[in-house]
Amino acid sequence: MKIRRFAMLIVAMAVGTSAMAQSLDIDQRVEELLQKMTLEEKIGQMNQVSAGYQAIDAISNGQVGSILNVVDPVEINAVQRAAVEKSRLGIPLLVSRDVIHGFRTIFPIPIGLASTFDPALVERGARVAAIEATASGVRWTFSPMLDIARDPRWGRVAEGSGEDPYLDIQMGVAMVKGYQGDNFADPTCMAACVKHFVGYGAAEGGRDYNTTMISERALRNVYFPAFKACIEAGALTLMTSFNDVDGLPSTGNDWLLRNVLREEWGFDGMVVTDWNSSGEMIAHGFADDLKDATKISINAGVDMDMMSYGFIQHAKALVEEGKLSEQTIDAAVRNILRLKFRLGLFENPYVDESLARKVAYAPEHLAAAKQAAIESAILLQNNDNVLPLAKGSTILVTGPMADAPYEQLGTWAFDGEEQHTVTPLKALGAHFNVINVPTLTHSRDKSTANFKGAVRAAKKADAVVVFVGEEAILSGEAHSLSDLDLQGAQSELIAAMRSTGKPVVVVVIAGRPLTIEQDANNCDAILYSFHPGTMGGEALADLLAGVAVPSGKLPMTFLRDAGQAPFYYNHPMTGRPNNGSETLLNDIPMKAGQTSLGCTSYYLDTGYGPWLPFGYGLSYTTFEYSNLTLDKSVLNKSDYIHIDFDLTNTGEREATEVVQIYVRDLVGSVVRPVKELKGFMRVTLKPGETKHLMYDLPVSDLAFWNRDMEYVVEPGKFQLWVAGDSASGEPLDFIVK
Ligand code: BGC
Repeated sequence: MKIRRFAMLIVAMAVGTSAMAQSLDIDQRVEELLQKMTLEEKIGQMNQVSAGYQAIDAISNGQVGSILNVVDPVEINAVQRAAVEKSRLGIPLLVSRDVIHGFRTIFPIPIGLASTFDPALVERGARVAAIEATASGVRWTFSPMLDIARDPRWGRVAEGSGEDPYLDIQMGVAMVKGYQGDNFADPTCMAACVKHFVGYGAAEGGRDYNTTMISERALRNVYFPAFKACIEAGALTLMTSFNDVDGLPSTGNDWLLRNVLREEWGFDGMVVTDWNSSGEMIAHGFADDLKDATKISINAGVDMDMMSYGFIQHAKALVEEGKLSEQTIDAAVRNILRLKFRLGLFENPYVDESLARKVAYAPEHLAAAKQAAIESAILLQNNDNVLPLAKGSTILVTGPMADAPYEQLGTWAFDGEEQHTVTPLKALGAHFNVINVPTLTHSRDKSTANFKGAVRAAKKADAVVVFVGEEAILSGEAHSLSDLDLQGAQSELIAAMRSTGKPVVVVVIAGRPLTIEQDANNCDAILYSFHPGTMGGEALADLLAGVAVPSGKLPMTFLRDAGQAPFYYNHPMTGRPNNGSETLLNDIPMKAGQTSLGCTSYYLDTGYGPWLPFGYGLSYTTFEYSNLTLDKSVLNKSDYIHIDFDLTNTGEREATEVVQIYVRDLVGSVVRPVKELKGFMRVTLKPGETKHLMYDLPVSDLAFWNRDMEYVVEPGKFQLWVAGDSASGEPLDFIVK
């Protein structure tokens, strides 16, 4: 044993020494190259454009450091040849693309990936994306999006991991590892870009690009952690956000980009703006003109300009006028060149043009995408165990999302091809006798024309499965909504199906949490699938038939009504919490006294709680938690909280439960969240099986940024829950000394 450890130590030292030598070597190469560069060539490296062939002259002249949105390997090689063989110094281009949830094989949208609570699977998905995209020559993706999203009106909830910082960290790190792999210089390594730094998801009113007001403490406790964790995991690049935080647009915020990112976190990767976010500081009223915006951005710590053209047009003059120092430019260019050396682009600039088509949609890629779609679906309701449906039974399949190959790919599926998509309608035939009556051509369709035909057909079926939701265009960037009910006549369709008296199963395929509580009253079961991607149809068919069992959990709170937004489970404690004694509108007596309702924090119409809590999700079986104990009730800051419990599958099917661990810090120097997720694990149990489970939670994980803006564990009383969602279970008490 001892010998093995010693050998491992020598190996670790050797690996460490060679990594250090490699980075010294890279730093030296960066310096040597930098010495040879003219100011114009340096500024050229800082310029990113959305173009291929059209930019070939500028590339040959050393005026472009990176391109985006070109995915044809022939075109990529052609522009790369211009950079490597025609430009004076032969510096290769960095080719980038929004590969957000798959390249050709499309995985569930990120909020769906988060619903899996399965980081290993998410990492595998990101690896698949990297293999397919790098085979086309794309070596840099603008993912993961780490923006905490607490308001489902914001369309970009589709692209992130939801409302919880801990889940955000696990998913973000998994994606970074998957994209980048183990070796940056490997041709399948695709550099990750953590975005949008920072606070973009806190847009007021959930309206995209809107202003935000986030305190430094909230930034540090809620919005920063996933960025910091991903950087520690090796994320190579970072993107600034469009929004301002407390009046400062991120692209011009030197405190964020220099003090926090570089000095505190030691980031030595590259910082890119969001699309024209430098130029947009003019519209913000934060810069006079593009020249001013350029000066502000570069001085704030931006390395590369995406699509404002300000750097290429104005940086040289700014240096000549003394408004920008050449040292500042050099520092930015170092970050860009370091990335290019790390990715091995100088040694390996070209791509094998025949590779892309060979690796796209490989069987193992499709299998991973199907598994992700299975694990991402969340069972919200299953009255009388109507699901799974009996195999071989006759089902009526209807609704706008039943056969919508393009729509089920979701937002940011630029390179997914709908002809490769398996829709539910295509897949259900393997398990059921399917009657299909199309109703509503798309999710906004208001025409009830075919409803009667569907009602008639339902008479011949054992059950009805209605596929509703949102088309891809209704979520994602710039697609905010103020009303989150089902669009068009979809609720009417569900009600019409209810009137048939047959069991009604609703499958929602959407880009965000919708407010469907009223529809839940018109059906027996609801399976929620955030746009599930290429293999969504097979995944959903397997789930409906019981070949697979749902295990997904909600990564965001599901609201009763959009008016409750923003609503998140881990909100700070209020001074007047509602303890379930809410008097709702219809129960208020006439001329009730002003204070007679109790003066607690709730809505008179929707009450206090949401429809469904964060972490919620049913299965085709039931689970029971028991014998929860902590080994100590008084702990030191350096201890681990050793948690023991039993989990029993009390139903009749093998299934997987996502066990969740929550903590509450009862008294703090600042108001603390009512609960915080601190750990989770996926546990698979056979029918009737009980497993004794353990989890060691470091007390140091209870640290937060306190009143003195120090990251500490404050001594005091805590509570801990182990449960299947954020609203269940009984807490155990413990004390930290
Ligand atoms: C988005 C980014 C994206 C970029 C490049 C912007 O509009 O906000 O997330 O990476 O475009 O396409």
